[in-house]
Formats: sequence, structure tokens, C-alpha cells
Amino acid sequence: DDTKAGVKGLMEAGLKKIPRMFIHEQYILEKKSISDRSDELSIPVIDLEWLNKDASARIEIIDKVKEACEEWGFFQIVNHGVPISLMDKVLDDARKFHELEIEVKKKYYSRDIKKKVIYNSNFDLYQASTANWRDTLSLIMAPHPPQPQELPQVCRETMMEYSKEVKKLGTIIFELLSIALGLNPNHLKDMDCAKGLFVTANYYPACPEPDLTLGISSHTDIAFLSLLLQDQIGGLQILHKNQWVDVPFSPGALIVNIGDLMEASLITNAKFKSVYHRVLANIVGPRISVGFFFRMHIQENSNSRLYGPIKELLSKENPPIYREATGEEIVACRYKKGFDGVPLLSHFK
Ligand code: SIN
Ligand code: FE2
Repeated sequence: DDTKAGVKGLMEAGLKKIPRMFIHEQYILEKKSISDRSDELSIPVIDLEWLNKDASARIEIIDKVKEACEEWGFFQIVNHGVPISLMDKVLDDARKFHELEIEVKKKYYSRDIKKKVIYNSNFDLYQASTANWRDTLSLIMAPHPPQPQELPQVCRETMMEYSKEVKKLGTIIFELLSIALGLNPNHLKDMDCAKGLFVTANYYPACPEPDLTLGISSHTDIAFLSLLLQDQIGGLQILHKNQWVDVPFSPGALIVNIGDLMEASLITNAKFKSVYHRVLANIVGPRISVGFFFRMHIQENSNSRLYGPIKELLSKENPPIYREATGEEIVACRYKKGFDGVPLLSHFK
């Protein structure tokens, strides 16, 4: 039952020292070597305001997206069409879920990855060598969403509404990415990239010893694309040219990043980057973030579709780096190995 109270439960028990399993030796060591994080660098911010109003602005936006995907794997977008009031509400309701009585949250506690609504802490608790300082509510919102009444009431409406908005926005971004790759605008959509939507509502409690642990270990996302909403606390960092770069809170912005599936399945030689990122623990909290991951669906053993490099992007000079795999196989690999520090894609070479 202790695990069901999550990391939040631990924090509320008034610990002054974090339990051993949360201590990230690697992180502590690394801080001595590549800790120098760069304050000069920051990920691109792309304004979508003129996307559909001006043809030359559209071309410029696509160029920026292309460059961001090749150089950074991460960018922020503003004027993306998702109402800011709704974004605020998503963060708020995500927090409300985590602040429910444990008796209520317990109903959703599970480690069965095929369930559509799961609350837990450290999905890889039994695989990973160290635990992360965060609790998560995960939802599978597409293609087969849960029945509304299966969703926790505190965030039901918001999550349904926001998922709809994110799907719309996803379609737009996949179109931009397709064009940026020199493909037909519908190419990625037709590959069903925007079809499966996995959501994580994260709660990073205040941590008494933030220098010893992490909110989330360094990892790449198993997704075609992720759209992340974070609150003003900060702590997200990406590994860029061997330096950790902060991804600062920017009002109204959404963070976009390329996931493993995009890099693996769509572009050879890692043309678009799926970049390592992590979240620092913080003495203040909670920090709330909500991630929307476009990925293939793994429900009902139904997805036997193979994902591999797009044929149009291959040539003699650009042979495929990764083998084809089913979505299910790729997702299962992440759950089996957890955040093991090895690129997920290295298992698919
Ligand atoms: C994630 O990488 O899945 C979450 C990142 C964040 O909370 O900012
Ligand atoms: Fe991530």
C-alpha cells in the first residue's frame, strides 16, 4: 500500500532524507563532469500565428521546424490555436487528481500497461536500478479512449477536451513535418502517426534532497511526437551537444519534441533527432506537467503494423539504420528495460 501513496505519500510522511532507491549515483557523478549547463543556449520558439494566413510566412515556419527537428529535436510553439485557458485548466486538474485522497486514487493504481487509465509511481520500479521523484496518471486517449466514466472525475472533461485540441494540433504539426521532409503533406498522417494518443499527467513533489535524485531520469520518448505542457516551476532539461540545456517555462507555449519512432521509423541516419531529456528534482513543488504522446496503439494486441524507415527517404547513401518492428514490440521493449540509459533504438538496429 505504501507504493500506492506514491512519492507524494513519501514526501508527506515528512522525510528529511530520501530513501536509498531514489539516489541516482550516475547523476551525482555526472554533475561533476558535464554539469556545466549552458545558460546561453535555448531551444527554438516558433510562432505559428501566420501559418494559415500568409504563404511566405508558412514557408518560413516550415524551414524553422525543419531546422529545429534536425538540430534540436525540441522546440516550443506559440499561437498554436489551443486556448491558453484550457492549458491552464489541464495543469490544474492534473494537480487536483494527484491531490485526491489516496483512497480515491487507489482505484486507478495499476501496472498493467494495456489499461487505459493508470495511476502509479515509477512505471519501471521493478526494472530500473533507481526510482524517480514523481507520480503519474497515464491515460490512453486514442484511438480507443476510455468510457468517460472510467476517467477520474476531477480531470475528465478537461482531458477529453484537451485531447481533442491536441489531436487537431498534431495533425497540423505532422503536416509541417511531412513537408519539411520533402514528402507529401499527408504522408505522416497516412502512416497513422497521429492516431494513438498516450497522456501522462505528472506530479513532481517537493524533494528534501534534490541534488541526489531526479524527477525523471534521462530518456528519449517512445513516440512519433510529444507535446508537453509544463508549469512555471521548471526543471526540464535536454541534452544538446553534450550539455544540459534548460527548457524554460514560457507562458502559452507548448513544447514539441521528436520521439524515437519518428527518428527510427521515418528518417534514416537520424535526420530528425530524438533527444535525451530529464527533469531535475526541486526543493519546491509540486511541479506539474502533462505530456501528450502520439504513438502507435498497443491495445488489444491489434497493432501488427510494422514501422520502419520510409522508403522515399532511403537511398544507396542512406541505407536504413533500424530494422522494422511492430509498435507493440517497441513499446514492450521500453517497459521491459525501463530507462536503462541505453538508447531504446539501439535494440532495433
Ligand atoms: C517527460 O519527459 O515525459 C516529462 C517531462 C516533463 O515533465 O517536463
Ligand atoms: Fe519524455
